[in-house]
Amino acid sequence: MKTLLLFFVFLQLLGSSRAVYKQWIPNTNFENVSNWDRGRVPCANDMVVFGSSEVVSVFVQSPHTLSNMYLPLNGEFIMAPGAGFAAFDGNYEPRCETGSEIKFTGLGSFQWYDPTLWQAAVSLEDLERGKYMFSVDEEHVPCQDDDVLFRPETSFRVNIESSEQMIRLRSISIMGQKFTANDTLAEYMKSRSAKLQFHGQGAIQLSNARCPDKSGCECGNAADHHRICAALLQNSEGRCPVPMCKSPLKPAGHCCEICGAIISLEYSTGFDMEVYRDRILHTFLSLPKNAGVQMAMSKVRGPRPFLGLLPRSPASFIQIMLLDNRTGAQSGTRAEELAKDILNDMAEHGESFGIVRGSVQAATGHNWSAHGAGPHSAAATTEMVVGAFFILLLIGIVLLLYKKGILRYFPCVHLLNRWKRMDDLDSPEDAVDKGFDNPMFDTPSSLAAVEGASSVEQATEMRSKNTQVYYINPLYDETELRA
Ligand SMILES: *[C@@H]1O[C@H](CO)[C@@H](O)[C@H](O)[C@H]1NC(C)=O
Repeated sequence: MKTLLLFFVFLQLLGSSRAVYKQWIPNTNFENVSNWDRGRVPCANDMVVFGSSEVVSVFVQSPHTLSNMYLPLNGEFIMAPGAGFAAFDGNYEPRCETGSEIKFTGLGSFQWYDPTLWQAAVSLEDLERGKYMFSVDEEHVPCQDDDVLFRPETSFRVNIESSEQMIRLRSISIMGQKFTANDTLAEYMKSRSAKLQFHGQGAIQLSNARCPDKSGCECGNAADHHRICAALLQNSEGRCPVPMCKSPLKPAGHCCEICGAIISLEYSTGFDMEVYRDRILHTFLSLPKNAGVQMAMSKVRGPRPFLGLLPRSPASFIQIMLLDNRTGAQSGTRAEELAKDILNDMAEHGESFGIVRGSVQAATGHNWSAHGAGPHSAAATTEMVVGAFFILLLIGIVLLLYKKGILRYFPCVHLLNRWKRMDDLDSPEDAVDKGFDNPMFDTPSSLAAVEGASSVEQATEMRSKNTQVYYINPLYDETELRA
């Protein structure tokens, strides 16, 4: 434990707020076959058509021989060294004997806030190697501390309309030129190229600073949540795919409900998001059994999903979204198992990571086929909160008060009564299946409404107020509950 602690103190000294690079995917390059309505690049005998009213910036990488080209009224070609257009000299290229009309269709209407149009990685090498980060939808779009890249040697056109006055970024690279200061960017934005590349009501502001808080920074795209989700779901009429589990979860910053697990963490001053992310990646996600599980860790703000006694000031917390690639009855089950493993680890080592407490919500397709009545019919929703210390303390107090005869004035007398009732049930399965409606803990009503065997509700509450020591609640045996 001591060496572990020293190790993480060491890691924290390194300072680890890391860069995230977000790279724009589409381009309007002349040589990109998907920018042409015939699915190929124009050849010598073709009649090339750019719509006259289109506003284009087109990068041309290589020389082309053309016989006819209709140009837009407003646009530019950016020529790479050696690139250019030459008049058709009468020599047909192979497979280009019959010329046809070929239209440039690469403009589309690409929105900055479309999460499908960005790739994210923690380093430039990862971007090159295609090792992309997984995240909630809001964070697929550049966050306020990100470095944004438009690939060198590509042209593009993007609508930067935003719900915020400014799109805030750390830096932006455009055609190989990196901007870190607002005045140089403002100068560039006045250029003709920039006006073709960026359109719509919006502006970009650069901070040239990393997230100063090692517990992480919020992404800052919440104000554009609607815009992000509309773009994400534009091909499905704004509708999310139907989740294959009952009571699917809604992660903060994500557009659609999921089957899988969400861990919510309350942290203290020692928490370092990157250190903890690495811990999960190396200790858990690298295990073969967790292949196919994806994790997105982010700092989010909102109503905290903690089941707690004391009212909490609205503050940020850490959300870990876990998804797996299982389907049907199995959907979400691997993610749920992993979430439990992480909570167990947290119970043991959470203190050294600056974690005050954590809770898990999970939704799986478990029982889904057993009930056989469609994807909405049955699934297990498991809600777990680790925090044995707190609940043991609470039980202790309740018992003490009960013994001393002052329990009737204690606000949670019915809690004990319910537990008593649970004892009275003959079959332990019944007790498990019904769960108990613990009034101490603000259980979402949807969970309470889940009926019968499809619901397993688990509340193992943990709290470490003074001691910062973690316990798994021995009262609740997971294996028994899952019977
Ligand atoms: C071609 O353009 C499409 C759409 O803009 C983009 O997704 C694709 O990555 C581009 N292909 C290349 C090779 O640049």
